[in-house]
Amino acid sequence: MSSLQKTFYIETFGCQMNFHDSEKVVGTLISEGYAQVQREEDADLIFYNTCSIRDKAEQKVFHRLADVKKLQKEGKRFAVLGCVAQQEGEKIFERAPYVSMVAGSASYHNLPAMLVQIEAGATRVTGLDDRETDQTFETEFTARTNPHRGYITIIEGCDKFCAYCVVPYTRGKERSRTSQSVVDEAKRMTDAGYTDIQLLGQNVNSYRDPAGKKSFAELLTAVGELPGIRRVRFTTSHPRDFTKDIIDAIDAVPALCDHVHLPVQSGSSRVLQSMFREYTREQYLERIAWMKAIRNKEISITTDVIVGFPGETEAEFGETLSLLDEVGYDGVFSFKYSPRPNTPSLQYIDSVAEGEKSRRLQGLQEHQRELQRASYSRHLGQTLEVMVEGKNGARGQIIGRTSQNKTLNFVTHDQRQPGIGDYVQVEVTQVFPNSLLGKMVG
Ligand code: SAH
Ligand code: SF4
Ligand code: F3S
Repeated sequence: MSSLQKTFYIETFGCQMNFHDSEKVVGTLISEGYAQVQREEDADLIFYNTCSIRDKAEQKVFHRLADVKKLQKEGKRFAVLGCVAQQEGEKIFERAPYVSMVAGSASYHNLPAMLVQIEAGATRVTGLDDRETDQTFETEFTARTNPHRGYITIIEGCDKFCAYCVVPYTRGKERSRTSQSVVDEAKRMTDAGYTDIQLLGQNVNSYRDPAGKKSFAELLTAVGELPGIRRVRFTTSHPRDFTKDIIDAIDAVPALCDHVHLPVQSGSSRVLQSMFREYTREQYLERIAWMKAIRNKEISITTDVIVGFPGETEAEFGETLSLLDEVGYDGVFSFKYSPRPNTPSLQYIDSVAEGEKSRRLQGLQEHQRELQRASYSRHLGQTLEVMVEGKNGARGQIIGRTSQNKTLNFVTHDQRQPGIGDYVQVEVTQVFPNSLLGKMVG
């Protein structure tokens, strides 16, 4: 690397969408002649790709900015990308005057032009006006960090406007890519050796092919039938738009993984209505029943839950616990309700006290842990296929991931050590509430 080459550092907060956006931003920066470095100290340009889903996530970003403030003296430039950027906009320049660029995800297709401004010495470059855009951020320069397993964005933005959620404001309106461009990208990935692809969107089930060729289920099938593909996943699903043809596709196409993440948020129809989720407990359970009825696979189901939503009573919280019993999830991501700027539920009285939210969260997590302890034991003695992800040095174990997205670490007494990205058969010898342990067979 020549010492004259411009360098950048990037740090990513938040969800898979943000993570994958960063891969596209990195690819774009490299194509513009920048080199990536691993420490802020070594960079000319420092990017934070931010998340504002809960107050804590947003605070993290401002703490990070305060930590690195001292580096401004060395002439470094700072850029804030992502959801906090779109949400706070130019207010970020007031709060952290050493930031030179603030840009939301809907403006990344303009990154090269914004970089030109930065290089010309502009101090307040913004990309904030594009929330209503129909454009998606497609680039041939995506710098994927893993050579075996990778993401493809199929739909950006969200039109659901759940009462508590910032995403429709931070990521703009829904816009889908054509199925042709998605399949072409997947094909380029399988040609390059990728075997595991995850299709991304805030709500993949509202995918609409602008060319009118394929439904979401048909797109899943097309990617799942590409030569060389072993595993196709998708996230996130919305129960309201989740249709039965998706389950039928999973049942029919071997490469479509036996795992569905279907966020429920609450087990109480009254709370769901107040969240504007547009489904009832019963309708949600109907979708679960479809999954349990298929013949060729056992679908592992995971979810997201919010506890302490405004007005949630103890009895309504109890309905969420009973829903966990009824569904039998393999994983639950649970959060305390966090009031967010611009969202409708900001108008509600945040009626559940902080201590009570913590108590419900802890109660729910303990409850789920016991459920998982019991349900994971179904895997004891099973032989499962895993993709090798790495070595767990200290204990001489190899890290694997099952098609249900479970961690299955294993040992091998074989001389041949499998390489990262290989698929091997592992017999499960021990189960924990969140992972499995086994030995390689065959
Ligand atoms: N599009 C996805 C994911 C959205 S963000 C979906 O619709 O499910 C991921 C999770 O964060 C949500 O499922 C929800 O459980 C949680 N979340 C979002 N906003 C929140 C808020 N204001 N307070 C607490 N949790 C929130
Ligand atoms: Fe947020 Fe709801 Fe959209 Fe998910 S579906 S991103 S929770 S508004
Ligand atoms: Fe966070 Fe934005 Fe993702 S708010 S969770 S980074 S869509």
